[in-house]
Amino acid sequence: MNLEFLRCRFKKDTDKVVANYTASIAFDHRLYREDVAGSIAHARMLAKQGIISEKEAELIIMGLVSIREEIEQGEFQFKLELEDIHMNIEARLLEKIGEVAGKLHTARSRNDQVALDLRLFCKEAIAETIDGLRGLQGAILEVAEANKDVVMPGYTHLQRAQPVLFAHHLLAYFEMLERDVHRFKDCLDRTCVLPLGSGALAGVPYPTDRAFLAQEIGFDQISQNSIDAVSDRDFVIEYQAAASITMMHLSRMGEELVIWSSEEFRFIDIDDAYATGSSIMPQKKNPDVAELGRGKTGRVYGNLLGILTTMKALPLSYNRDLQEDKEGLFDTVDTLLPTLEVFTGMLKTVRVNTERTYQAAAGGYSLATDLADYLVKRGVPFRQAHAIVGKLVSYAIDGNKDLGQLDIREYQQFSDLFAKDVLDITVEASVAARNVIGGTAPGQVQAQLDRARSVIEGI
Ligand code: ARG
Repeated sequence: MNLEFLRCRFKKDTDKVVANYTASIAFDHRLYREDVAGSIAHARMLAKQGIISEKEAELIIMGLVSIREEIEQGEFQFKLELEDIHMNIEARLLEKIGEVAGKLHTARSRNDQVALDLRLFCKEAIAETIDGLRGLQGAILEVAEANKDVVMPGYTHLQRAQPVLFAHHLLAYFEMLERDVHRFKDCLDRTCVLPLGSGALAGVPYPTDRAFLAQEIGFDQISQNSIDAVSDRDFVIEYQAAASITMMHLSRMGEELVIWSSEEFRFIDIDDAYATGSSIMPQKKNPDVAELGRGKTGRVYGNLLGILTTMKALPLSYNRDLQEDKEGLFDTVDTLLPTLEVFTGMLKTVRVNTERTYQAAAGGYSLATDLADYLVKRGVPFRQAHAIVGKLVSYAIDGNKDLGQLDIREYQQFSDLFAKDVLDITVEASVAARNVIGGTAPGQVQAQLDRARSVIEGI
């Protein structure tokens, strides 16, 4: 079969350039499983409703199953002249089972067909994305648990701010990814809606059973407006938006891994298996995986912008512009899933240089806030305490000393409320003091770890 039947109202063949320009088979062949699944469900429904006979449905389904096999064996010949995956499969069905193949497209249009295929694709992509996110969360938890007592500087403005537990810092990413999981679960709800039965746009004049179709497909909702069902791709946009947010999170993590593994920081060592060398500088060990995760975020944002722009101002209902919904989506899935996978492996094998992180946490006047809090506990208003400690820090900087290197007399030059016990303000004491829900005190971080563990184990 070729597309001759489509050309009956024309007096000329399609121009070659046009055929090349409009064909989508180069990328939508990827939807073959979804397309076959949709067609099988449709054939069953047509038979159940008496629109085609049981015998015809059986033939059609058998043909579709064997086509799926041919594709999986790499034996299927995709033809550009047949435009897209839908026509390629239908044409092959005709070759295999004869004229009865022509009955499959009863009460259906490519418009509701492709909408279904893409929804099925997104459903699967969401499941795999959530698995990937859970895997990375598991790695975060593993590294956090293994380094439970490790202290590091917490930063604001990338300047040392206050000491925190390394596990606390890592678990921040666990929380981000947890919200990502929920975003994907949430968009699953709006993805699993059956468009089939909408026809080209107006519905179909056959006694179809859409509830049966939804059940066969495994969707729990049915689209309530046929024009909307063939027109909108907001479920694709939602996937792309959620993916963009996840990539943004991964990019921040990648950035930190790059910084932490630098000679200047030396907080972590990235495993050799997750680093690459330089073609000129023999000593180099580069964190390319983390960098690429950061870099690939750009293309995922680009794909989101692409589909948003394609959809903008499209009149209802179906327009061929919508064919542009696929490549960006595929690219996003093909970027996000491997990024999650490779970050999981990279993180699991990271070694933390605990002495370095401790030294860094103790230096840089990170305990200044604790000194101010010390005065507050002795009745000084916080703003005044802030000023006193500010002067003390300035004095220490001038003397080229850390706070811990000052003696008690030097402290007392700034406030006579400073007593000997001010010297007990250590990194450990600072961390332990932040004993609020979500804080960095060991007990609180343990609670975060426990919570994370129960999330991972699905309790
Ligand atoms: N390849 C098309 C797409 O991806 C399938 C639907 C074609 N429908 C049409 N009316 N030309 O959107």
